[in-house]
Amino acid sequence: MPESRRTLWGARTGVPLSQSVLEYTRSVDVDLRLLPDDVDASLAHAAMLQRAGLISADDQRAIASGLQRLRSEYEKGELVVAAGDEDVHSVVERRLHELVGEPALRLHSGRSRNDQVATDLRLYARRRGRQVLGAIAELQDVLRARGEQHARSVMPGYTHLQRAQPVSLRRHLGAYVEMLERDAGRISDALRRADVLPLGSAALAGSTLPLDPGFVAEQLGFAATSRNPMDAVSDRDFAAEIVFSCALLMVHCSRLCEDMVLWCSSEFSFMSFDNAHATGSSLMPQKKNPDVAELARGRSARVIGDVVSLLTMLKGLPLAYDRDLQEDKRPLYDGLDTAQETLVILTEVLRAARFDTERMRAAASDPALLATDVAEALVRRGVAFRQAHEIVATMVRRSSAEGRSLAEVRAAEWDEVSPGSGAELVALFDVDAALARREADVS
Ligand code: ARG
Repeated sequence: MPESRRTLWGARTGVPLSQSVLEYTRSVDVDLRLLPDDVDASLAHAAMLQRAGLISADDQRAIASGLQRLRSEYEKGELVVAAGDEDVHSVVERRLHELVGEPALRLHSGRSRNDQVATDLRLYARRRGRQVLGAIAELQDVLRARGEQHARSVMPGYTHLQRAQPVSLRRHLGAYVEMLERDAGRISDALRRADVLPLGSAALAGSTLPLDPGFVAEQLGFAATSRNPMDAVSDRDFAAEIVFSCALLMVHCSRLCEDMVLWCSSEFSFMSFDNAHATGSSLMPQKKNPDVAELARGRSARVIGDVVSLLTMLKGLPLAYDRDLQEDKRPLYDGLDTAQETLVILTEVLRAARFDTERMRAAASDPALLATDVAEALVRRGVAFRQAHEIVATMVRRSSAEGRSLAEVRAAEWDEVSPGSGAELVALFDVDAALARREADVS
């Protein structure tokens, strides 16, 4: 049989696998990045087999040194994938056999690629999930730091994208810190559920060999071993949860980006990207565009699609392992990669961006933004809120019909509608004082 078409299970069919079927079914291009995880899991499995008396100490040593060598070939980009390698597990098994000979044939005892890939994927999710958590913390740091620089930079807060009330830029940026905090919580929570070792479940029903999954779990740093092997080989909930967490994180990044796109427009002009972070137009010489923010907004759509792919792939699967599960990797990688890349680039862009505090202040200085402050001052004076609202709304209507701002309403006019309130109300129209009234730690 040609070496390139020999499979791990070829003895069953007795003929070489059709080239087209090999190409359709193989996943090595996609799952090779699990190689470090496959090596870690194989090292722990071999150590367990030796302790259980299923392989000799010499064989275990040979397997371990072969696996280490294989890992370093992979890290140096020297590992060659053979034409017949179906997936990362086939690569490891073939190369290990080339490196150490007969002992390699003993490594697969008590193990199936079904529990192996489920283990690799959990290890991968753990290491990549932790990186995303680190990237979230960095973006939060920048948002907090830029916020601290702008604790007193007043800008309009919006509802319905209409100017509503004055807020500080710190508070606006701080809202994203909160969203990211929840994202980090969701990812950590998903990682807790991923922290269960499937290895030992074998194909679906466990093994007749005296395996010790507890030992393997300890070696790999898993908190627990799976209780039901049929669930263990087919469970991808952790992947769905992580990708959902990444999708919601991307939705948050996308909202931040939408704010930035608006702020970079001439209409707002609250913000500008550092020139090194801005993009231009091949046609219009004057353009300075915030493409990074737009691409992040666009990529959030793809990660939402990744969640849908995973859930749809899972929903009709009969127990236990089905080959459909091989399709779990692209959405998992894409969710994690996109989230991480987006967090990193937004951190860089925000660190260097400039805020035009004069423009923001001018936009926040419309006295109408303090109409609520007036109503609340009336409430403090004992007026029922509904009446206070009506008094101020009537005054807004009257003054704007006369082409005056709310700040130009005279004390005597307020006194007419709320006796004795005039002096206090006219004094309210100071935007910095208004900010300090709400953001108590701004002085
Ligand atoms: N490459 C497969 C996956 O990613 C694992 C192999 C399972 N193959 C099998 N015939 N049981 O899910």
